[in-house]
Amino acid sequence: MRIGFIGSGGITRAVVTGLCHGDAKHDIWLSPRNAEVSAQLAQLDDHVRVCESNQQVVDASDVVCIAVVPDIAEEVLQTLTFRPGQLVISFVAGLTVDRLQRRMGVEAEIVRAIPLPATAHRSGSTVIYPRNAEAKAIFDAIGATVEVTEEAQYDLFSVATATMSTYYGFVEAQAQWLAQKGVPYEGARTFLAGYYSGLAKLAQVSHDSFDELAKQCTTEGGINELMQRKLESEGFFEQVRTAMDAVQKRLMNGR
Ligand SMILES: NC(=O)c1ccc[n+]([C@@H]2O[C@H](COP(=O)([O-])OP(=O)(O)OC[C@H]3O[C@@H](n4cnc5c(N)ncnc54)[C@H](OP(=O)(O)O)[C@@H]3O)[C@@H](O)[C@H]2O)c1
Repeated sequence: MRIGFIGSGGITRAVVTGLCHGDAKHDIWLSPRNAEVSAQLAQLDDHVRVCESNQQVVDASDVVCIAVVPDIAEEVLQTLTFRPGQLVISFVAGLTVDRLQRRMGVEAEIVRAIPLPATAHRSGSTVIYPRNAEAKAIFDAIGATVEVTEEAQYDLFSVATATMSTYYGFVEAQAQWLAQKGVPYEGARTFLAGYYSGLAKLAQVSHDSFDELAKQCTTEGGINELMQRKLESEGFFEQVRTAMDAVQKRLMNGR
C-alpha cells in the first residue's frame, strides 16, 4: 500500500516506526514538515521518502493520514486536492467526518483514527470510525484495532486517551514513594514498569471485566482491599469520572 502522512510529528513518528518494523512493506510518503522528523524517519527504511509538498504526498498515496494539530488542520485540508474515493485517515482530535468532508470538497472515503505512541512498538490499541477494512489492516499491523460504528462513541474513546499523562503521574507517585523510603529510583522504576505491563497483559488475554480482574486481585482483609477501599472512600474513582466529564466538555466545545 502507498501511505502518505501530512504532518510529521510525534504521532506520525510512532505510526511510521511501527509500520517499518512490521511484516508488510508499505511505500510511505512524508510531508516536508517537520523536516528533522521526516529526515529521521526516512533513515528507517528505503520505502520511506520525503516529498517536497503536502500535495505531492496526496498525489503519491493511496491512503493519506492527516496528522497536523487541530488548530491548523482545516486550513491545511483546504489547500489540498484529493481524488474522489481516496482513503483519508484523520488523526485530528475533535474534527468530525462531516466537517472533514466539507473542508476537503471532494467525496473522499474518510476514517478517523486515534493511534497512540505505543504503535511505535506495535502494541496498544487504535480506535477507528467508521469500519474500514484497509484502515483496520494498517492499524492491526501496529497493535490492536477497535472499530466503532457511531461517531459519538469514537469521541468518547478520545476522552479516555486523555489519561496517558495521569497514568504516568500515578506510577511516578509510587516510584517517588518507594524512593523516599530508601529504594533506588531505577529499581523502583524497573519494578513498576514490569508490574503494570504484567497487569495490562493479564487484562489483554482475559475476557473478564476490569471489575472482575480487580476482585481476583483482592483478598478479604488484604492489602489490595485496603488500598482500594481507602481510595474509594476519599473519592479517587469519582474524581476520575468527573475529570473525564471535564475532558468530554472541552472536546465538545472545541467543535
Ligand atoms: N500525540 C498523540 O498521542 C495523539 C494521539 C492521537 C491523535 N493525535 C492527533 O494527531 C495529530 C498530530 O499530533 P502530534 O502529537 O503528532 O502533533 P505534533 O507532534 O505537533 O506534529 C504536528 C506536525 O505537523 C507539522 N505541520 C505544521 N504545519 C504543517 C503544514 N502546514 N503541513 C504539514 N505539516 C505541518 C508540524 O511541523 P513543525 O514542527 O515544522 O511545525 C509537526 O511536525 C493531532 O491532530 C492530534 O490531535 C495525537
